[in-house]
Amino acid sequence: MTGPSVGFDIIGGMNHLLPLPRLIETGSGSAEIAPGSTVSGPAPLTDAVRLALTVLDLRPGDAATASVRVEQDPRLGPEAYALTIAGDGVHIAAGDPAGAFYAGQTLRQLLPAEAFRSALVPGTSWTIPCGRVEDAPGLPWRGAHLDVARHFLPKREVLRMIDLMAVHKLNRLHLHLADDQGWRVESRAFPLLHEVGSHRPRTIISHKGEELAFDGVPHGGYYTLADLSEIAAYARARAVTVVPEIDVPGHASAVLAAYPALASRPDRYEVLDRWGISSAILSPLPATVDFLTTVFAEIADALGEVPYFHIGGDECVLDGWAASAEISAYQASLGLESTGDLHAWFLRQLADVLAERGSRAVVWDEAFVSGRLRPDTIVMPWRGEHVARRAAAAGHDVVATPVFPLYFDYAEAASPEEPAGLGDAITVSDVAAFAPAPSEWTEEERARVIGVQFQLWSERIPDGRTLDYRAWPRGCAAAEVAWTGGPAESEDFFRRLDAHLARLDAFGVEYRPLSGPRPWQRGGSGWRRHRPGAVVVHDVMRRLHELSLSADSTRPSI
Ligand code: ACM
Repeated sequence: MTGPSVGFDIIGGMNHLLPLPRLIETGSGSAEIAPGSTVSGPAPLTDAVRLALTVLDLRPGDAATASVRVEQDPRLGPEAYALTIAGDGVHIAAGDPAGAFYAGQTLRQLLPAEAFRSALVPGTSWTIPCGRVEDAPGLPWRGAHLDVARHFLPKREVLRMIDLMAVHKLNRLHLHLADDQGWRVESRAFPLLHEVGSHRPRTIISHKGEELAFDGVPHGGYYTLADLSEIAAYARARAVTVVPEIDVPGHASAVLAAYPALASRPDRYEVLDRWGISSAILSPLPATVDFLTTVFAEIADALGEVPYFHIGGDECVLDGWAASAEISAYQASLGLESTGDLHAWFLRQLADVLAERGSRAVVWDEAFVSGRLRPDTIVMPWRGEHVARRAAAAGHDVVATPVFPLYFDYAEAASPEEPAGLGDAITVSDVAAFAPAPSEWTEEERARVIGVQFQLWSERIPDGRTLDYRAWPRGCAAAEVAWTGGPAESEDFFRRLDAHLARLDAFGVEYRPLSGPRPWQRGGSGWRRHRPGAVVVHDVMRRLHELSLSADSTRPSI
């Protein structure tokens, strides 16, 4: 070994991989990889390996001398790989670039945690123990959701999130781009969307039941269409698909601040400076469908390939529709009996528009409950297992997104030490124990569960540092469940997580330590003071079940 010792014993062999691979065989002997070594094989696959291992600065080379040899194996399915470390170097077989990228990520975890730094001390070289990993994902949709509407996250934070997703073999970045508190993407067709809808003069800092208080600090930001193209390309190279969300017809205050003519009720609308459910709702008339068709096309063109487009459908207060003579007449002309039917019909129009462009619609579960979805629409059952099973039984593909345990805006402990969260308490263990397709479901229902996704709603996540704290290590547990397709074996998971946290330290992630927040991560007594027990997650879930599945049942107001 040349250069400084980088402490291979931090990781210790092949038994600290996270997420857990399908098969690990430890061998005898070791291979050496020095930075600047070469990699051989077909370009799309070697490009992916090099990107996963930029820290090694692997150069393209020929098979006779390469330390890492990559080959395409058409027998391996999407995202699958085999990684062999032998005395003569590293062999990677993959069916596609994603598989090669994940082989590179696994190899990175076989190196010391130092491999997760952005640059190495010059001259470092490593010895890797011989062995073999064979691996493939349990679920095809392994998602992270970022609410960039409540608090905008600058582009650099989104790109960093993609890097961290790649480390964890997560492959869907759901960007919640529009809500009452902000519209976050440029529109050339309707520029007031970003000019007016992307900022607010202040933000609420008081909590439910307290005297109203605001921070007096303007907040805003949006991605240009060029930013979106960049984010999508950066993500694609790292096996991540961006799933844009424009949440309609509710959550519409920012759109209506820009274009009030789209409202069901003439009024003055403002970008909201507080949280909770608002009654601002888009009209379902054809002009709104035309408007959204144009906006969706702008976003889709910027992103390039858009296999999935999320259209929201949640938490709609439909009173404004019922109160409008024009909308009621339109509803009657369509032969629809209720505003709930009209909600379903409206979303169906949008899903059909998207299908013409080659995108599958994704919706929150209220849209499934109100009926009429295209059969290919993907449902995100945020209100829990009950509605998830109903959607699966109805033949929809389902991505598990339940509040408990996948809303990471909830605090990890009911403790005043925590920074302000939406409620208590979702722990790493809760996430690791999650079963996305419960065993009591039928085989057909279980087969409909195509994924797992954690949500980072951002009412209480004002910046990237708080995002790190909320996302990790709960995100590590979600990644394990998504990759393996089932709950983690707790003791073994926490043993591997221990080593993995050293990788996150080297990466520079300000995660929440398992023992609790660091002194500067605590809630303190100021604006981010946590109110333990303010919303208790089990109570929330009980309430959501009681509300049953009506289209207007709501998230707890905060
Ligand atoms: C949601 O939490 N309203 C999807």
